[in-house]
Amino acid sequence: MDLISTIKALDERLADGGVVAFVPTMGNLHAGHLDLVRLARAHGETVVASVFVNPLQFGPHEDFHAYPRTLSEDCAKLEQVGCDVVFAPTVTEMYPTPQQTEILPPPAADELCGAFRPGHFRGVTTVVAKLFNIVQPAAAVFGKKDYQQLFLIRSMVRELNFPVRIVGAETVRAPDGLALSSRNGYLSEAERAEAPRLYRALGEVARALREGDQDIVALEANACRELESHGWRVDYVSIRDPGTLMPPAEPLDQFVVLGAAWLGNARLIDNIEVSLD
Ligand code: PAF
Repeated sequence: MDLISTIKALDERLADGGVVAFVPTMGNLHAGHLDLVRLARAHGETVVASVFVNPLQFGPHEDFHAYPRTLSEDCAKLEQVGCDVVFAPTVTEMYPTPQQTEILPPPAADELCGAFRPGHFRGVTTVVAKLFNIVQPAAAVFGKKDYQQLFLIRSMVRELNFPVRIVGAETVRAPDGLALSSRNGYLSEAERAEAPRLYRALGEVARALREGDQDIVALEANACRELESHGWRVDYVSIRDPGTLMPPAEPLDQFVVLGAAWLGNARLIDNIEVSLD
């Protein structure tokens, strides 16, 4: 496996690499990321993973500086799952001059997490567009845990005609249901024991929807109350149309239930897709 930090060296390495499958990450890798790399294997001859903590997608008071940088551990894990190339550029390599050209994502970017993290998804779409131009993959794999991110990247690729196939990978969970996330590392022992409640609360909403309850406002409010009564600070629990990521405008048979809430210093997100078929 090659560890590369410049765009020029990556170009040279990939010149005769054939079809490239790509997994963009911010590092501090867990089993969920490694699953994305395994999945990427099926979509290309050369698998490239990027490790880059992108300053553009963090707000001024967010955890950009605290975000764990663990490149050597990440490389050891990536090598074990058969990654061919790790692209780990510096901030200056990615942004040699202030980034003035940005990708403006569609209005769904201002909903859900976007309402609490202004500009976050513009930072994500901009860096992903740059990475796609640098790596030139035929396919790129993203986790469904970041459901809104995946939705917006699919929109960008479709509307800007990027020749990249986007593959969505199922969320990997701990045995107690907690979705794996680099930010789980911010949880204390007691918070870690409490953390699976988010998935359970979303699961209750999903169960009610499957049983025919479509009182969206009440279902969302019940889930928020349940979390708040156990010490969570809830950003949102929301039932959305997976086709638009907007609140359902008519009776549907497909939903996605999404939630974001804080336990101490950790902001956790999760979601469940619901099909009434
Ligand atoms: O999901 C992430 O880790 C990041 O948002 C991504 C897609 C690597 C862009 O920085």
